[in-house]
Amino acid sequence: MPSVPQLRRALGEARSRTDAIFSLIKPEAFYERPIPERHRIIFYFGHLEAFDWNQICRWTLDKPSFHPEFDRLFEAGIDPKEGDLPQDQPSDWPSIAQVQQYNSQVRRVVDKALGEAPDQALHIALEHRWMHAETTAYILHQLPQERKITPLPSQEPQGPPPQHEMIEILAGRVTLGRDPEEGFGWDNEFAKHLQDVPLFVISKYKVTNGQYLKFVEDGAAPPPFWSLQGTQWFLQAMFGEIPLPYDWPVYVSQWEAKAYAEWTGMDLPSEAQFHRAAYGTRTSEERMYPWGDEPPNDARGNFNFTYWDPIPVTATPLGDSDFGVSQLVGNGWEWTSTPFHPFEGFTPYPTYTGYSTRFFDQDHYVIKGASPTTANCLLRRSFRNWFRQGYPHAHAGFRCVQNS
Ligand code: AVJ
Ligand code: FE
Repeated sequence: MPSVPQLRRALGEARSRTDAIFSLIKPEAFYERPIPERHRIIFYFGHLEAFDWNQICRWTLDKPSFHPEFDRLFEAGIDPKEGDLPQDQPSDWPSIAQVQQYNSQVRRVVDKALGEAPDQALHIALEHRWMHAETTAYILHQLPQERKITPLPSQEPQGPPPQHEMIEILAGRVTLGRDPEEGFGWDNEFAKHLQDVPLFVISKYKVTNGQYLKFVEDGAAPPPFWSLQGTQWFLQAMFGEIPLPYDWPVYVSQWEAKAYAEWTGMDLPSEAQFHRAAYGTRTSEERMYPWGDEPPNDARGNFNFTYWDPIPVTATPLGDSDFGVSQLVGNGWEWTSTPFHPFEGFTPYPTYTGYSTRFFDQDHYVIKGASPTTANCLLRRSFRNWFRQGYPHAHAGFRCVQNS
């Protein structure tokens, strides 16, 4: 269990990361809405602090509010059904200076309260912030180039061209979910249970842009990050357009992923199959991470903000699972065929009952793994992420399985 000084340091690191991401956005762009299904950027600027305040001070320690209007305005994000887009105007939102002032005050009171707050509230705030570091990164991706402050380019690793192959995954038993003794987890990670997975085969690599291009040439719609200029395909990378890298994973919605899998006569993996390919071994042991039990580092995969963009699907062989499957964690989330539903034993957290319950339906699907902007603390085996089937913005790709 981490101590309060450790959590304090961790919160400081997470704040530096979210501050750094907001500093890449030009002030006038704070009132834009780069993704129609999400709030304007100004909401996220206030949301991170309002959330910490509400969770730690207001709902856990029962402190009196100093700005009830902002506590509510910035309380929770949105996830509208198709055709039900938000209608608010820039003028409906307070100024950057007003939000900045609220944020500074929240940080002062939250910092004073850290010693009194239970670990659980601190973990909720910390991991919530890391999830929004990622959300803010993928919203920034959609902002027109001239409204971003582009960081210095980093040298991205290369890899050999992928030799696509299918790997047989022996039948075995996987552990889904988490035990409270293992440390903090979100409500949807409980309870821990076992599931038998019959033999199946899975692709060694994530589906690449190059592979998906064949599907597009056969009539499928191009993924949202692509554009055709003359006869050359381009990719909207985080900070500019580049000729489509054929050996990067393709990022698509679950609908597109499923359509591709069907076009090849295959399926998307289920959540349990993903676990078996990632954490299973030829013996009965299961691993903490695909590569073993060592903590994550950048030789194992593309995560934790080492790069903003994907890297070739062959670039991190040291991250392979025991079965030899590459990049199951990092370089893009992976869509599964599993609708996001609670495990048996699910109980929502009292201060945050809506975290998962609002999304248990037939329209949200589990994604597993991690993207380049997923923080290390979210790479644990039991972490479950999810989005609507049609949502193409979340830096998620896929791989295919053949069920016998
Ligand atoms: C778990 C990533 C789907 O972004 O909607 C942030 C995380 N929930 N604030 C989301 C979340 C509330 C959530 N995901
Ligand atoms: Fe949030």
